[in-house]
Parts: sequence; C-alpha cells; structure tokens
Amino acid sequence: TYRRRKRMMEAHDLASKFYNYILMNTEVGVQALHYLERRGLRKSTIEEFQLGYAPDSWDTLGRFLHKRGFDAALLLECGLLTESGQYPGKVFDRFRDRILFPVHDGQGNCIAFGGRIMAKGEPKYLNSPETALFHKGRILYNLHRARQAIRKSGAALLCEGYLDVISAYQAGVPYAVAALGTALTPDQASILKRNAQYVVMAYDGDQAGVNAAKKNAIVLDQAGVEAKVAVMPQGLDPDDVVKTYGSEYFQSLITREAISSADYMLQIMRKDYALSTNEGKSKYLQAAMAYLASVTNPIEQEIHLRNLESEFKVSMDVLKTELQAQAMSAR
Ligand code: UTP
Ligand code: MN
Ligand code: MN
Ligand code: MN
Ligand code: MN
Repeated sequence: TYRRRKRMMEAHDLASKFYNYILMNTEVGVQALHYLERRGLRKSTIEEFQLGYAPDSWDTLGRFLHKRGFDAALLLECGLLTESGQYPGKVFDRFRDRILFPVHDGQGNCIAFGGRIMAKGEPKYLNSPETALFHKGRILYNLHRARQAIRKSGAALLCEGYLDVISAYQAGVPYAVAALGTALTPDQASILKRNAQYVVMAYDGDQAGVNAAKKNAIVLDQAGVEAKVAVMPQGLDPDDVVKTYGSEYFQSLITREAISSADYMLQIMRKDYALSTNEGKSKYLQAAMAYLASVTNPIEQEIHLRNLESEFKVSMDVLKTELQAQAMSAR
C-alpha cells in the first residue's frame, strides 16, 4: 500500500542519514572515510552523494530503526534487513562492513543502497533486492540530482557505476547517471528520452563495456533516443580516466571525441572481420546491414549506406536488397 511504501522510504531516508553520520563522525567509520579519500573523493562530494558506512555488525541498523518504531517485517520486506538461512526467524542488517551508496528515485526518495566491499571479496557490490520500492530496471542512479544539468546541457552521460558518476561530478560533469551495471532496460531508455536530448554512453574500456555499448545503442535507438559513444582508453573506466588523465581530458572524451552510436557500431564491427579479403568484406557488409536495418531513422540509414557504397564499391541496389533481407529475418 501507499502508506507502507512511504514508511519504507522513511526507513531508507533515516538509514542513509545514519550511515552517513557513522562514516563522517565516528571512529568506526574512519577506515571507510580514508578509503574514499584515497579514491580521490572530496568531503563535500561525500556529503552531496550522502555516502555512508555500514559497520561490521549484525544489528546496528536494526536496533537504530527499531527504536524509531520500524518493525522488523517492514525492514525485511524493503531489504534493509535480511534473514539468515541458518537461523530461521532471525534477522540481520543486510549491509555490513561496506561503503554505502544511497540510490534515489526520480523524486529524490532514497529507495535502495549499493554497498561496496573495501577489501577484495565477492560480491564487490551488494545491492538492495527488488522490493516494492526498488525496481532496478526502472531506476537511474543520480537522476534526481542530474536532471537540471541534463535539461540544461541536453546531454545525459550514461555510465556503469556509482564511482563513475561521482568522479564525473567532481570533474565538472553534473549530468551523469548510471543504470548500475551494463544492462539498460527499455524503461530506463524511455526515462532518458523524457529528460535528455541525447545520451552519451561512457562505459568501461573493456570487453563488457564494448558489449554494453553495442547492445544499448539498439535499446536507445528503439526508444527514440539519439545516442553517442565516448570510448574510454583500454582497461580504464570513467573514474580511472579522471584520476589518470584529469578532468579536461575526460571532458574532451565525452564531448568532442564522442561519436554517434551508428559510427561506433559500424566501426567496432570491423574488428570481427578480415577486411582485406573479399569474404571478410562480404561478411562485414552483411553484419552492417543487419545493424542498419535496426536503425529507425531513414536519413541516418541512408547516409551510412552511401558511405559503405563508396568505401566498398558495392552498388546501392545490392546494399538495399541485403538491408531488406536482414530487416525481414530480424522479425
Ligand atoms: P565495476 O565492476 O565496473 O566496478 O562495476 P569497478 O569499476 O571495478 O569498481 P569501483 O566501483 O571503481 O570500485 C560497475 C557497476 O556495476 C554494478 C555497480 O553498480 C557498479 O558501480 N555492480 C558491479 C554490481 O551491482 N555488483 C557487482 O558485484 C559489481
Ligand atoms: Mn570490474
Ligand atoms: Mn566493469
Ligand atoms: Mn568500472
Ligand atoms: Mn571503477
């Protein structure tokens, strides 16, 4: 019910303040604060993003919220507490000894957390489960803070992770959001459509990042969103780029150096084919037509067809026939 959801949001809001207080003002949080400082986060940034620390304890949050009148059933249901398989009926704090990144909905209500482990270990991030409040596929991290800047600049920078968004913010890019991982859902794409004129994908410079850009270029196109790709140097994510090369270089990568998603697709697919052979060229053109068949804007389609026509000396007729064949088989 509405009242129950509201109560869950209140619990999250209190929890985020509690965890932030522990991080900033207690001995227990000192290590975590040092970790974040080592990673280059300013105190003002930590406050802005309301980062927190969940102590290495079974019941710190549970007891705190119990005193404020929240019952265990509600806290379990919204994911702040968790049940042990070993001791049925016993509940514990879900997040223990982790840095916490509060996740908000578009209106700025705290509805979930991502918790990063500081040492090596699995999982690197423990996230809130799907609950009545939190549907991962409908949320973009940082949207409520970034919205103004997105409207103003026209662009939304789409990153993979919490720290990419936060580093972008410190580098003077306040319009970054994250889908929390590499998958982008149609719901998230339509949220972007409502807020941005175009989206710049800034995924990690690794194979997973490349795969994400390829997949999500199509998801964004289907949602009618103009998309660009900012290619990060090999092995680096946006956070690493800011740390390694500085803000100005990062800004140039995501603005001047960003290329249209169609250019990106047609370029990245080349790596899969031996273009010095006729067979390779033929296979590449088939793949290119399969991709272009998914492009919804006919003008954009046409421009790329013309480029391929002149580069590969293949007639427009043949390209268009192949395009139609690919469009049919995609259905
Ligand atoms: P990455 O795996 O790229 O994080 O996850 P990273 O860059 O190595 O590590 P940090 O963040 O710089 O320390 C990118 C995003 O994917 C989600 C999180 O939202 C994370 O910010 N993720 C990653 C998870 O949800 N769970 C995981 O176990 C790992
Ligand atoms: Mn990683
Ligand atoms: Mn990654
Ligand atoms: Mn990363
Ligand atoms: Mn990183």
